Amino acid sequence: MIDDIFDLHTGNITFKNPIALATMAGITNSAFANEHANRAGLVVIGSFNLDEKTNDAASKLMARGRDEFISDNPFGFLKSEIENMGDGNVVAGNVVAVNVRGTTIEPLLEAAMIARDAGAILELDAHCRQEEMVSIGVGEALMRDIPRLVDWIGKIKETGVVVSVKIRTNVVDDIVLTRAIESAGADILHVDAMKEGTGADLRMIRNIRDSTKMFLIGNNSITCFKDAKDMFARGADMISVARGVLNDPNIISELVDDITALQQATGWYNAPKHICGGEGDLRALAFCCLPVKPCAVHNKIAKLGLSAQEFANMKMEFARGTMLEPGDNTCFGSLVWCCKLSKPCFLRDGVMNMIGLSGAEYMRLKKNLATYILENAKIPVNES
Ligand SMILES: Cc1cc2nc3c(=O)[nH]c(=O)nc-3n(C[C@H](O)[C@H](O)[C@H](O)COP(=O)(O)O)c2cc1C
Ligand code: SF4
Ligand code: SF4
Repeated sequence: MIDDIFDLHTGNITFKNPIALATMAGITNSAFANEHANRAGLVVIGSFNLDEKTNDAASKLMARGRDEFISDNPFGFLKSEIENMGDGNVVAGNVVAVNVRGTTIEPLLEAAMIARDAGAILELDAHCRQEEMVSIGVGEALMRDIPRLVDWIGKIKETGVVVSVKIRTNVVDDIVLTRAIESAGADILHVDAMKEGTGADLRMIRNIRDSTKMFLIGNNSITCFKDAKDMFARGADMISVARGVLNDPNIISELVDDITALQQATGWYNAPKHICGGEGDLRALAFCCLPVKPCAVHNKIAKLGLSAQEFANMKMEFARGTMLEPGDNTCFGSLVWCCKLSKPCFLRDGVMNMIGLSGAEYMRLKKNLATYILENAKIPVNES
């Protein structure tokens, strides 16, 4: 029985928590995943090279010192790697994704059917930037050839497998790319938020969150719980760790414990930042005031095609009859306009005490409010 405290679903898949192992070619196979990520909500293994050309390119990469998975029986290897995930020490309910590379659609379709039949996710590698792969049209080359990427995602999706696409930010226009991937039918966008010379590009995670309804996995430079929280607060549904596991083999387990405690205490593990600080995504409209003064809220609601009055009506409509409705003593007369719990406020807390509303329940209602606003927007996020 899988605990469902996070309510994390995509396609027919339920994740038991929002912590994932990300792929490192030649390193993250089933043995590695079983040893270091047996409590993760998702383990991505691979990348698996599916045809002769990708295996040849991988041999060249190995010749210059990189690790790779090479096989002259790629599909047998893929199958056995997925099977090995089931009989190691993986805790029941762990979801597996296989990250794959191919130069044509046929091997990708075969891998998709293997993944589908095993209940695994197929992750298309549009991320690899090694010249040996890019020069044969694989990895990053797919981000630069959106018509082919879209065509391949559509065909892979037709097999019925759950599809993830792994990308890296700041290579092409990330919003154009995100929308193309979503319109092609992908279920999951796995984003390495890389920005040359800095840490993770958190602003880009926020911008992507505000442009898509896809399940979003945020990745890059996560080495502790604070890094994970920073990415969750920009709208990642899940975060993944690659190199961090090499430095701290227990990191996945530690992150699972930390995020579980946070979810139990607050009810919204990936609650957004406030919009006024310039970092909040559109979900943060749940914490916004009655829109009566000039501030950042107006630009945000305009993106959703809403006037100030329509936004106000929408929030009040949601609040009616719920524990967010009362709040005479608060700034705008109802908890529906109140700030995030992390902002100390004796007025809000006084009302919550009076009506017996716990912090976790308050945040759960705000999460539902955020979903309600986005679902009822006149312009959906993936079109705004
Ligand atoms: C040695 C190594 C190999 C990698 N191989 C792959 C790969 O085959 N496919 C892929 O999508 N990403 C690959 N990645 C990228 C990682 O999955 C991840 O996106 C990146 O390292 C940033 O995350 P991190 O800061 O947690 O390491 C690789 C990364 C490393 C360090
Ligand atoms: S409405 Fe309030 S919370 Fe929202 S951006 Fe304006 S001042 Fe900040
Ligand atoms: S009463 Fe407190 S929590 Fe509510 S809007 Fe005012 S400052 Fe924010």
